Amino acid sequence: MQIQKPRGTYDIIPSEINKRKYVEDTAKKVFSNFNFSEIRTPTFENTQLFKRGIGEETDIVSKEMYSFSDGEFTLKPEMTASVIRAYLENSLYNEAPLQKLFYISNMFRAERPQKGRFREFSQFGAEAIGSGDYTIDVEIIALADAILKALGVTEFTIKLNTLGTIEERKVYLDELRKYFKQHEPVLSETSKVRLEKNPLRILDTKNPEEIKLLENAPVLYDFLNDATKTHFQNVLSSLDALNIKYEVDYKLVRGLDYYSHTTFEFISTALGAQSAILGGGRYDLLVEMLGGKPAPAIGFAAGIERILILLEEKAKEKHFTFPEEPRLNLYIVNAGLKDNTKIQKLLLSLRAAGIKCESDFLSRSVKSQMKEANKLNAEYTIVIGESEIETGKGKLKRMSDGKEISAELGRIYDDIMLFEEISNKQNAD
Ligand code: HAM
Repeated sequence: MQIQKPRGTYDIIPSEINKRKYVEDTAKKVFSNFNFSEIRTPTFENTQLFKRGIGEETDIVSKEMYSFSDGEFTLKPEMTASVIRAYLENSLYNEAPLQKLFYISNMFRAERPQKGRFREFSQFGAEAIGSGDYTIDVEIIALADAILKALGVTEFTIKLNTLGTIEERKVYLDELRKYFKQHEPVLSETSKVRLEKNPLRILDTKNPEEIKLLENAPVLYDFLNDATKTHFQNVLSSLDALNIKYEVDYKLVRGLDYYSHTTFEFISTALGAQSAILGGGRYDLLVEMLGGKPAPAIGFAAGIERILILLEEKAKEKHFTFPEEPRLNLYIVNAGLKDNTKIQKLLLSLRAAGIKCESDFLSRSVKSQMKEANKLNAEYTIVIGESEIETGKGKLKRMSDGKEISAELGRIYDDIMLFEEISNKQNAD
């Protein structure tokens, strides 16, 4: 029996790789334009990092972590804790007061797989560490918005909320608990557990009865002090000024415990149940919680698979096309040459000069090699047999129009260039 891939994982086969490269390359370009620098961290970290960083009561830590059998290490379910660990371990705070970092990496969560939800998935994301200023909140949201737009993802809604500080939340959570306690019989088993451990998460419920209950529940925003509200209002008015559209959603809570102040999600209804393309927010206490000197920070991460689902949908409707991988420049047809190293020598020198070229490794006939060259969409072909080796000359054929020129084997590269030059000139005339 053939062995299959683990549930919730996927292969990216060569014919699909252009799509992923497009997303990664576009994101990288925009990150670079925003002056964010790339950081890479290990695939697994000390389990304690995530327990302390993300929070013991979160779904991720309590149910979804892939930990090795001795429990010491865990495949990373997200990057933020890992980036902060690296920031501290490498004393990046000494290099600049504000670190603007980005990453593209695979994550692991033992969730129930469904459309847009995998057990191994990839994110691109950014973390800005060192500033509590509202302007960096705006920079991060504008960055996320710019990447999605550069990718051609346009149908999304930005939902924003502020979670205030721990102290502000504490008073609110007491009120929220009191409220839900009065309505405990209506609560699901999950919510009853959350009521004790993490009542904020009940705001995220999908249960219709609980959603109704939320209509009259106390609202966190009413418990926030003026400084917190001003920070949030400054973010909102800056986004207005930048013409970045958003919706304030006071019920938006995130699945990780480290957040404070500004939080956000970019949502697309086209994704079905897993509607979040991207999520993030401020996490002013995390650096300190992981043993560093206090440093406020904010970041986001986007799900690459979810972005691809949206783009593939658009491509199907012909509203978008993924860039293709670079074409094969030249296919060298071996017309019965005994000494194949003559062709391989040619291939090696052309490849070293930057030409993407290929030949036959299956001892096929000239006819089936020509077929192969067509299938590979080669721009040029050249047939080389004993007589071409003897004379040092062959016929370089342009596949798009069948035009041929005599080419010297020692300078095929120049001949291809010559071909291009003549065509360009003819086109210009
Ligand atoms: P998150 O909301 O857990 O946040 O994940 C961010 C994004 O990753 C989601 O919006 C979604 O697009 C994608 N994602 C999450 N889980 C899965 C999954 N199982 N399959 C496919 N895609 C998934 C974080 O990870 C935070 N570290 C974001 C952050 C950075 N906050 C501050 N800085």
